[in-house]
Amino acid sequence: MKKIILTGDRPTGRLHVGHYVGSLRRRVELQNSGEFDDIYIMIADAQALTDNADNPDKVRENIIEVALDYLSVGLDPAKSVLFIQSYVQELTELTFYYSNLVTVSRLQRNPTVKTEIQMRNFETSIPVGFFTYPISQAADITAFKATTVPAGEDQMPMVEQTREIVRKFNQTYGETLVEPEILLPDNDACMRLPGTDGKAKMSKSLGNCIYLSEDETSVQKKVMSMYTDPNHIRVQDPGQIEGNTVFTYLDAFCKDEYFAEYLPDYANLDELKAHYQRGGLGDVKVKRFLNAVLNEELAPIRARRKEYEKDIAYVYDVLKQGSEKARAVAAQTLSEVKDAMRINYFDDEELIKKHIEKYQNE
Ligand code: TRP
Repeated sequence: MKKIILTGDRPTGRLHVGHYVGSLRRRVELQNSGEFDDIYIMIADAQALTDNADNPDKVRENIIEVALDYLSVGLDPAKSVLFIQSYVQELTELTFYYSNLVTVSRLQRNPTVKTEIQMRNFETSIPVGFFTYPISQAADITAFKATTVPAGEDQMPMVEQTREIVRKFNQTYGETLVEPEILLPDNDACMRLPGTDGKAKMSKSLGNCIYLSEDETSVQKKVMSMYTDPNHIRVQDPGQIEGNTVFTYLDAFCKDEYFAEYLPDYANLDELKAHYQRGGLGDVKVKRFLNAVLNEELAPIRARRKEYEKDIAYVYDVLKQGSEKARAVAAQTLSEVKDAMRINYFDDEELIKKHIEKYQNE
C-alpha cells in the first residue's frame, strides 16, 4: 500500500514556533526522508471560515502568510503538494455523504470541538458548520487516501473520528477508504509548547507567541522576559525545571552541538538542568543561551522567507498548481465513493439496462 501524508493548518495567522516543533519540522523531515509516495499539505481556509464566517478577510490575508511560512521552513513544492482547501470542491461533497454516518451525540463528545466551543463562547449558538468540521476533516484526509497525519495532540480526536467514518463507510458500502494514523511529535515539549508567559495556549491576543517570521530583536525581547521559576530569586537558589518555560523551549529546540558553540562549560542539556536545580545558575545566562539556540534555528527560516517574499506571484502559482493537482486526486476518490454508494447512475450501464427491461416486459 502507498504511504501518503495529508496534514494542514487553518490560515488565521502567521505560524509560530509551537507549529514548528509540533508539526512543521517533522513534515519537512518526512518530506526529505523519501519514505512517502505522496505528501499533501493543505491550507484549511474552509475550516477557518467555520468559526470566522464574519471575517473572511482574516482568512484571505493569511493564506499567503501560511504559504510563506511553509516554504520558509523547507516544504518543497517539488516534493509536497501545497494546496488550498476551498479550491477542492470535492471535499464538501464527501463531507455531505460522510455526515450520514456520524451522529450528533458523537460530535458532541469530540474533546477538541468541546474545548473550542468554550474558548469561542459558542455554547448557546454553535454554528452548524463549526460543529461538523470533524466530518469535513475526515473528507480532507480520506480524499487523498492518507495513511499518515503528522499533527499535534489536539488533532487526535479528529483522526479518531476519521477512522470511525472510514470503518463505517467501508462496512456499509464496501472497501473504499483508507484508515489513517496520526503521527505525534516525539517529545512532550514539542507536543505542548507553552506561550512565552508559561500559559498553555499560545495566542495572538495574549502576545505570548514567537512567530517564525519574527525578527531577531523582537524574539530576543520575548526570550529575555520569558516565564521561569518564580521562586528562583537569587542565582544561588536551587531552581525548578518543571513548568519552567525556558527549559521547555530548550527541550524542544536544543541540540548538543549548540553547547560547544555557545555554552562550552556544559556538554548537554542534562548538565545545564542539573546545575540549575542545584543552584548557582542564573536565569539570564540560560535565557541568553536559549536566544542563541532559537536564533540558530530561526535564522535560515527567516532568510528563506525574505527570498520568497520577493516573489509573491510565484507563491500564488505554487498554490494554484498544487490545488489543481489535489483536486484531480480528490475527484478520483469522490468517483470511487459514489460508485461504492451506488449513486453513479449514468455510469452504471447495468442499472439502465435493468430498468429498460423492467419496463419492456410490462
Ligand atoms: N484542524 C487543523 C488545524 O486546526 C487543520 C486541518 C484541517 C487539518 N483539515 C486537516 C489537519 C486534516 C490535519 C488533517 O490546524
